[in-house]
Amino acid sequence: MAPRNTKVAKKAKRTKVTRSKASKKTKVAKPKSAAKTSQPGQRFFERQVIDRFETLKVLLVNYNLELMTSSELLLLLKDTDDIDKFVAKFRGFCGHTVGELYRDVSIRYVVTSHESMRTRFSFFERKPDSEAIFLFHNTEPVGFLIMRRGDCRKRPQSMVLTLVCAIQMPGVPLGSMLLAMAVFCALQAGEPEILLEVANGRGGNWTAACAYEKFGFKLTPSIANCFSSGDPDRPMSLSLKDVNVGMLERLITDKTFEGLESQQCHMWRFTRQLSPEYAKDALENPIQRNSVTEKILNQANITQMPRAEAEMTIEQQLRFLIQQRSTT
Ligand SMILES: CC(C)(COP(=O)(O)OP(=O)(O)OC[C@H]1O[C@@H](n2cnc3c(N)ncnc32)[C@H](O)[C@@H]1OP(=O)(O)O)[C@@H](O)C(=O)NCCC(=O)NCCS
Repeated sequence: MAPRNTKVAKKAKRTKVTRSKASKKTKVAKPKSAAKTSQPGQRFFERQVIDRFETLKVLLVNYNLELMTSSELLLLLKDTDDIDKFVAKFRGFCGHTVGELYRDVSIRYVVTSHESMRTRFSFFERKPDSEAIFLFHNTEPVGFLIMRRGDCRKRPQSMVLTLVCAIQMPGVPLGSMLLAMAVFCALQAGEPEILLEVANGRGGNWTAACAYEKFGFKLTPSIANCFSSGDPDRPMSLSLKDVNVGMLERLITDKTFEGLESQQCHMWRFTRQLSPEYAKDALENPIQRNSVTEKILNQANITQMPRAEAEMTIEQQLRFLIQQRSTT
């Protein structure tokens, strides 16, 4: 697992941003239209758009973070050799939940498809439109998010969130900050939707699936088998009609805000706090599992879910918890 940065956590505590204070400043430009508006050659992540998200800008300063677009970052790459170093720098943040090949290729495409690299790579080595934002803390990379239009064959005009990975920094919602910026840019561009497929969706990946759900991503079976990644179990889509900038601001400034998450993800907030040892015991011992189920249902205040569904969900979450901790 990537090292936990206690310095950042302490600083974050000292410089807590309240939503009311920060949100006043965000300029909300009207989307250009309800349909897809980006012109060919126009970038999704543009500095002037990113800088309009004032609340996130304040958070970045407070947490001592810097956000760069792929266009800005790649101008700094001088040699082709740098590409492998570049990929190596960022891939460590994805843990073992994301397939290694998918991860490396996705990061590489951000580099090879950039216009400054066009003469160095053949058409087959490029994937036009691959773009990313990168987060740095004191010049050290700590996370990234990649987007690309057209990765879903069934909806070639839609933006696809290819991959998001971040290290864990206690008290600093790096993943949510990256997601909030991607959704903000989509809102500003008047995109109708964002699509994605949860890496290792079959194995659960509750962390990622629930991070997406908070923002309003919903399971969308109609786009299964639409992506090249070949993990068809958890395709999701976000209709931009369901979100607004105020909601994005709350998601990055208010830890308790649940956004649009489901009951299952609400339960995951509590399940993920258990130790892997405790989770293992609960899976092996039916009495203990029953008592854990009761406890989580009480804490999460879940009253309407059928018992069998609750038990199955908690069992899956306990398994994922053990798997996640044993591979980080
Ligand atoms: C997917 C991923 C980027 C999501 O990030 P995340 O860690 O869930 O999300 P955040 O960074 O928003 O949250 C991290 C912490 O900040 C907390 N947090 C969330 N919102 C917060 C807020 N507004 N203020 C303060 N803290 C907040 C969370 O509760 C969490 O803390 P906890 O783990 O102690 O409970 C990350 O888990 C990851 O890189 N996973 C591995 C790669 C992967 O699977 N990628 C997805 C491929 S589809």
